[in-house]
Amino acid sequence: MDYQAWLNQQKQKNRLRTLVAVKRLSGGELSLAGDPKATFLDFSSNDYLALSNHPEVVSESHRFLELAGSGAGAARLMSGDLAMFHELEDEMARLKNRPSALLFGSGYMANCGIIPALAGRGDVIFSDRLNHASIYDGCRLSRARLVRFRHNDLDHLEGLLRKERGGGQALIVVESLYSMDGDRCPLKPLVELKEKYGCRLMVDEAHATGVFGAGGGGLIEEDGVVDRVDIAMGTFGKALGSYGAYAAGSREMTQFLVNRARSFIYSTGLPPAVIGASLAAVRLVRQQPQLRRELFEKVELFKSILRQGGLDNLGPSQIIPVLVGESDKALELAQSLRNHGIFATAVRPPTVPEGTARLRFSITRHLSKAALEHCAAVLLDALKG
Ligand SMILES: Cc1ncc(COP(=O)(O)O)c(C=O)c1O
Repeated sequence: MDYQAWLNQQKQKNRLRTLVAVKRLSGGELSLAGDPKATFLDFSSNDYLALSNHPEVVSESHRFLELAGSGAGAARLMSGDLAMFHELEDEMARLKNRPSALLFGSGYMANCGIIPALAGRGDVIFSDRLNHASIYDGCRLSRARLVRFRHNDLDHLEGLLRKERGGGQALIVVESLYSMDGDRCPLKPLVELKEKYGCRLMVDEAHATGVFGAGGGGLIEEDGVVDRVDIAMGTFGKALGSYGAYAAGSREMTQFLVNRARSFIYSTGLPPAVIGASLAAVRLVRQQPQLRRELFEKVELFKSILRQGGLDNLGPSQIIPVLVGESDKALELAQSLRNHGIFATAVRPPTVPEGTARLRFSITRHLSKAALEHCAAVLLDALKG
């Protein structure tokens, strides 16, 4: 394939992806590397609790770097199994209220490692249609049969379970909070279904951990289904402000993954500075529920202004999609917001289904009241024009 011809084609279809180098500033702002004087309010980041530059997170990261150097030096099953990994796994197991947790290099690596460990040829995976790309890639790597059900439609899932369950292992995979739609999976009826049909259930809590649940344990905690979910996974790269990922569940399950998940076995352990940051972040999340309250006060303020302006269907979370339909419209809207100092990403196919291009606003704790009011006013104005 000719690279340039392909890139030109993508551009014509308004699908070309380009990198924009930025510098993150305090107060939820960023500047563009090419034009440092222009600053923007960042409505694209997943640093929901603003922990990535929290003083305790930064200082623990420094301390761990000084203590242990810049890298783990090897995969954990070689000589790279630093004691600090176990400390973070214990903290994570406590946060998720599960007996055990296992670290992965990233959320992407976790999904690509866990799913093929749990399902293989002859098995079947039932996956919500709007699941993240990393889940799809994990499903493909597994070589299990993939059966997709309509987004959050448990009647559809049950019909498929009746027809396609078969006699092998069956795994149901969902996200608890959908990354591009900001809506929640109906976890309570889902656990009933998975028990009725003898399936395993894996829940991706990438966007829910730290944000939902009285103790920050995510939507599985908030919905009271912790013990009925076989594997909860999530990332440290969003509300926890760091990097890396985890799977939480029974001790047997994490031991199984140590032996079976290839992205765990064949990859270097995370760097100490990252572990220090994650440890501090997990402790803050457990000890300071006010971080979540502050975030949701901001979410409510933003939504209430949009509702007064006539926008509805804003969803139940800190992720707020504003659907516009075609990619060119989403790009235009993103540009007009950019002209008013607001950075919100236009999300287009293939990341989301055809005809559902959107602007995705994510609210973070460091955005001020004035910033939220400004963004809501500019958005309402742009949608009128
Ligand atoms: C639902 C979901 N799962 C997994 C991932 C991947 O996580 P990470 O960024 O740590 O690779 C993401 C992030 O983009 C996500 O939104």
